[in-house]
Amino acid sequence: MSRVSYVNGRYLPHDQAEIHIDDRGYQFGDGIYEVVTVINGKLADLEWHLDRLNYSLTEMGIPMPMSRAALKIVIRNMIRMNRITYGLVYFQITRGVMRRDHAYNALMTPQLVMTAKSMPKVRHQEMAAVKVITVPDQRWQRRDIKTLQLLPNCMAKTKAVEAGAYEAWMVDGDGFVTEGSSSNAWIVTAEGELITRPATFDILSGITRKAVIAMAEQRNLKIVERPFTPAEALEATEAFVTSATSLVTPVGELDGTRIGDGDSGPVANALRLAYYEFINRQAAE
Ligand SMILES: Cc1ncc(COP(=O)(O)O)c(C=O)c1O
Repeated sequence: MSRVSYVNGRYLPHDQAEIHIDDRGYQFGDGIYEVVTVINGKLADLEWHLDRLNYSLTEMGIPMPMSRAALKIVIRNMIRMNRITYGLVYFQITRGVMRRDHAYNALMTPQLVMTAKSMPKVRHQEMAAVKVITVPDQRWQRRDIKTLQLLPNCMAKTKAVEAGAYEAWMVDGDGFVTEGSSSNAWIVTAEGELITRPATFDILSGITRKAVIAMAEQRNLKIVERPFTPAEALEATEAFVTSATSLVTPVGELDGTRIGDGDSGPVANALRLAYYEFINRQAAE
């Protein structure tokens, strides 16, 4: 069966899934999105993703296009129709379709689009460390909202790919790492403390970040939520990134210099495996 996508109430073959050119998501990036990972057929932290979706919509003044229960049905239908055992579900809600004008009104009908794709099962196993580069953070000041406006993130990620790296860590005007282009950034100090930036307006409050904090606490690891610099990262014993797509991915190199022994470390490996188990357990409850 070919890939199925969802557009405003209709399940369509992916190549026929289309939106209007006056959709404000297309015209202005006026919308929000979520990405939920599927592991062994289970949706990782779905409730937290839906909470964040509500938060983003509220901050943008966009109404929810359907009830939470109905949205969950669409998500599960998409997993079933696309036969996803390991993969991702992507959904976005835009403010709606109107004749192009910067100013919007409150009466628009939000548009919901959803896609799903399979990913290799190996994602949850131990993995080799990746390379990261640093770039200036050029984004707006409400990075806590998961908006479709990802141009600075796309430019940062492209720079990383061109440099043979996996991710770009964005650095603010004061010289501190905010986060990755599509992930949260972490280091482990020589004292064994896990450092990650606090979830203020400066970063997206990652769902994987939240889950990893919970798992690290269960393991009595000390978590310190504070900004850190690239120089501090180079002094760290380990570094890693977290996201629905990357899960917990170890970082072995920053701007061409090794972190720790340059390979995946025990903390990142343990948290990566624990996250997989956590999802299985969560869904079983
Ligand atoms: C800028 C940014 N930070 C962090 C994350 C990680 O968030 P999550 O763990 O919810 O995927 C993402 C994910 O897309 C992101 O785009």
